[in-house]
Amino acid sequence: MNAVSKSFLLMAVLLVTALNGFGQNMHKMAMKSEVQKAVCILYPTAGNNVSGVITFTQTPDGILVSGDVKGLTPGKHGFHIHECGDCTAADGTSAGGHFNPTHMPHGAPTDAKRHVGDMGNIVADASGKAHVEYVDKVIQLNGPLSILGRGIIVHQGADDFVTQPTGNAGSRVACGVIGVAKK
Ligand code: CU
Ligand code: ZN
Repeated sequence: MNAVSKSFLLMAVLLVTALNGFGQNMHKMAMKSEVQKAVCILYPTAGNNVSGVITFTQTPDGILVSGDVKGLTPGKHGFHIHECGDCTAADGTSAGGHFNPTHMPHGAPTDAKRHVGDMGNIVADASGKAHVEYVDKVIQLNGPLSILGRGIIVHQGADDFVTQPTGNAGSRVACGVIGVAKK
C-alpha cells in the first residue's frame, strides 16, 4: 500500500468514527425527548365521590405508579388503565375495556400474562383513602405500549385477577385521562 492510499484509508476510518459518534449523540438527544413522567386526575363518575391524582414516573426498574385516591368505600378496588382516554359517559363506560395492546388475558400486575392496563387493586382505609405506590414492569410511557392518552378507571369492587376479561371489579366509580406531565 502506498502513502496516498494509506492516508486515504486513515481519512475513511476517521470519517466513519466521527459519523458513529454523531449517531450516538443523536440517539442520546432522542432519549432525552422521550416522555419521563405522566399524570392522571381522577374524577368521580355520576353518583360517586371518588377522586385522586396518579403519576407515572420512569425509573431504571420500570414505571413508578404513585398517588392518592379518596372518597372510596373501605377495602379493595379494581384499578386499571382502560383503552380509551374518554370519560364522557356518566358511568365511565366510554373508557372501553382494559388497555391490552399485547392481546393477553386479564391478570394481576405481577403476572407474566396480563393486560398492560392491569394495575391490580388499590386498598382504601376506614376513611376511604388509598395510597398507591409500586413499580410496574409492563407499563410504558413511550413506544407502542405507551399509556399516554389512555384512561384510568377505579372500580366499586375488587379485581379477582381471574374473571375474564374484567376481573369482575364492578361498576366504575372514577375516571381520568393519562397525559404528559410537566417536568
Ligand atoms: Cu377497569
Ligand atoms: Zn385486565
